Amino acid sequence: DTHDFSAHPLWHADSDRVAADELAVAGNFVEVYLAKENHDGVVGINFLEKIAVANPPAIYGAMLAGVDYILMGAGIPVEIPGLIDAFARGEAGSVRIPVERFSHDEGYVLDFDPSTVLANPPERLKRPFFLAIVSSYVLALTMATRATGKVDGIVVEGHFAGGHNAPPRGVLSLDENGEPIYGPKDTVDYAKMVGLNLPFWIGGACSMPESLEESQRAGARGIQVGSLFAFCTESGILPELKKRFLEKVKAGTAQVFTHPKGSPTGYPFKVALLDGTLSDKNEQQRRKRLCNVGFLRELYKTTEGTIGYRCPAENEKAYAAKGGDASRSGDALCLCNALFATIGLGMKYASGYLELPLVTVGSSLDSLRLMIERFGLSYTARDVLAFLGLTPAREAKR
Ligand SMILES: Cc1cc2nc3c(=O)[nH]c(=O)nc-3n(C[C@H](O)[C@H](O)[C@H](O)COP(=O)(O)O)c2cc1C
Repeated sequence: DTHDFSAHPLWHADSDRVAADELAVAGNFVEVYLAKENHDGVVGINFLEKIAVANPPAIYGAMLAGVDYILMGAGIPVEIPGLIDAFARGEAGSVRIPVERFSHDEGYVLDFDPSTVLANPPERLKRPFFLAIVSSYVLALTMATRATGKVDGIVVEGHFAGGHNAPPRGVLSLDENGEPIYGPKDTVDYAKMVGLNLPFWIGGACSMPESLEESQRAGARGIQVGSLFAFCTESGILPELKKRFLEKVKAGTAQVFTHPKGSPTGYPFKVALLDGTLSDKNEQQRRKRLCNVGFLRELYKTTEGTIGYRCPAENEKAYAAKGGDASRSGDALCLCNALFATIGLGMKYASGYLELPLVTVGSSLDSLRLMIERFGLSYTARDVLAFLGLTPAREAKR
């Protein structure tokens, strides 16, 4: 295979991890550094608990650049506040990494020591605020009571949100379109959230001009908005994809599918149905399944007792040979490659095959529709803030 850029080696617990750690530290440092340039507002970075092995160096890199908030969902990140505290004290930190079939005693602990990537790591770093993203009061309570350090707030995210969603509580059942059925147990009682005495924000289809005020009346500190920003001109999603989807929203023909098994993580994932993307079943069939990025691989105990790696979206036979649950692999999509392609960094192979993009967006399109009615198909992040009734942070004087 040839690619437009060289692929970095897949992460491996037993191999020399320094190169992968350096890349994670540098990547997250750069992302936050650039986001903090030329204004005096705060910057947060959002990680997925599920992508466990990358989190320690990624968090460290973001903290080196002075990130103000760290948010984490897609799992129950109880160990992350303690990790952040350790990095703030200039110390090494560690987290337990789930390995399927490992007994409790065999648990795998991943350490990250800043001195492995920096000659002179700072003695102290600013401790960012930590917000956990959860979908239920019970998980919010768990975070508030069982975390290894301070949880500064909670984002309560409903299942209409773009990206990954929590599965419905209880047994998964699907409607006639094959989407998960959510019920009353999947709604959060905000009055109970107020009782936790932690600031909370509401996310997921909470992006209308009146949403902030309504959320604050329910006791929330604020709102978390994703989909409106995903389609603004500053967003890294390919302009052609944004335009085609917004045109569909305008025409009233846009469709969003909550894919119950599309994501290798096993969480439902919101998919915008768009031609020429991996949302198309024919394109899914046409793609040769291979795992060459590997961020979403799960760790498991091999028959020899070592740590193995597998992904439901890799070649189905290879996944089954590694003991993977076949019912998870048929529909799984390679989000690693597809999401890179969505921001214009898709892999190109010697065969000429190009990895296809996949667009994610929340399933309630009301605010997007109103947004483009007011601001047109090409709008900025500032326009989104104005739409939500907010004023942007001041630009720093140069
Ligand atoms: C394109 C896109 C990418 C997202 N990526 C992530 C992510 O990597 N991690 C995460 O926790 N949430 C992610 N989200 C969810 C947002 O952070 C936010 O909670 C959600 O979009 C709010 O709901 P809304 O889409 O209805 O505004 C993503 C959302 C979108 C639209």
